[in-house]
Amino acid sequence: MSGYLDVTEDVYKAAANNPDVGLCCTTTPIWQLPGLEIPSIMLEMNYGCGSTVHPRDLINDPTILYVGVGGGMELLQFSYFSRKPRGVIGIDVVVDMLNACGNNTEEAEKFNPWFKKEFIKLKKGSALDLPVEDGSIDVAAQNCLFNIFHEEDLKKALQETYRVLKPNGRLVLSDPICEQGIPDNLKNDAKLRALCLSGALSLNDYIKMITDVGFGTIEVRARRPYRILSPNDYKTDVDIFIESVEVCAIKDEMPVDGPCIFTGRTGIYYGDKDQFDDGNDHILLKNQPLSICDKTANALKALNRKDIYISDSTFFYDGGGCC
Ligand SMILES: C[S@@+](CC[C@H](N)C(=O)[O-])C[C@H]1O[C@@H](n2cnc3c(N)ncnc32)[C@H](O)[C@@H]1O
Repeated sequence: MSGYLDVTEDVYKAAANNPDVGLCCTTTPIWQLPGLEIPSIMLEMNYGCGSTVHPRDLINDPTILYVGVGGGMELLQFSYFSRKPRGVIGIDVVVDMLNACGNNTEEAEKFNPWFKKEFIKLKKGSALDLPVEDGSIDVAAQNCLFNIFHEEDLKKALQETYRVLKPNGRLVLSDPICEQGIPDNLKNDAKLRALCLSGALSLNDYIKMITDVGFGTIEVRARRPYRILSPNDYKTDVDIFIESVEVCAIKDEMPVDGPCIFTGRTGIYYGDKDQFDDGNDHILLKNQPLSICDKTANALKALNRKDIYISDSTFFYDGGGCC
């Protein structure tokens, strides 16, 4: 099974030396921020399927780890917020990709007066064995890498990011998911996996793997159509619909009744009292929306009350909420 890792390295060695605009793709808009100029080579080498850069995660002078650097676009975006030497540590197993990323950051220095290439420290290493100290990172990010790993390696990669994060640190990721179950012939096709086309898990299975390593809170921040594998082009009998997700996993204490998974559900109490208290630390003020995790949404729904509205998942949640 480990041979697929060699194929992956070959694919990204080629993508480092010959930028491949269609390799991965995203409908997520590229961050436009005052004074931030992304060099065109970084855009051509945007091999992610979403964004892992969320300003809300980047308060309090964070140290950021970015695993699987690609052309360096997201490392530059993260640097925009951290702006300190070695504030962003970029790890990649492919030397040619590290070199390309390093060259691209030099290019970025020309257009971004606030940016110095020393803000990004590039290191060779694998997601499966991170060359990073325990408990030293505030925000760890990966975009379109973990989906490539078979489950045993995915577990290792998740355990590694959990290990290096500080308490309450965050893993922010973007990856393809697939609810249909990808046929084994495609799953075991090392090249397709490396291209982020056949390793996708269902959202629930992926979240379970993340929470099984200890992350106590999950935020599903975005979910978008990504690709279709059709019988015309792939060895499948049916069209396979692939989506991409953006997820933030927080290394907080695991609640006794299991992880809090926020998929963008909201509760609204609209009865004849001022508020509704579920006796479990959730107070719904009359006619005010409250963001709730799936556990709480399901518990409130089970009460079968006519005066509480519970929304379906919107798959758009990144904290916050009024009151
Ligand atoms: C699909 S690209 C994504 C690049 C970047 N995250 C982006 O969004 O543009 C996957 C990246 O992971 C790197 N990679 C592949 N296997 C790796 C491993 N085992 N550990 C760390 N990086 C790896 C590749 O060299 C490549 O840079």
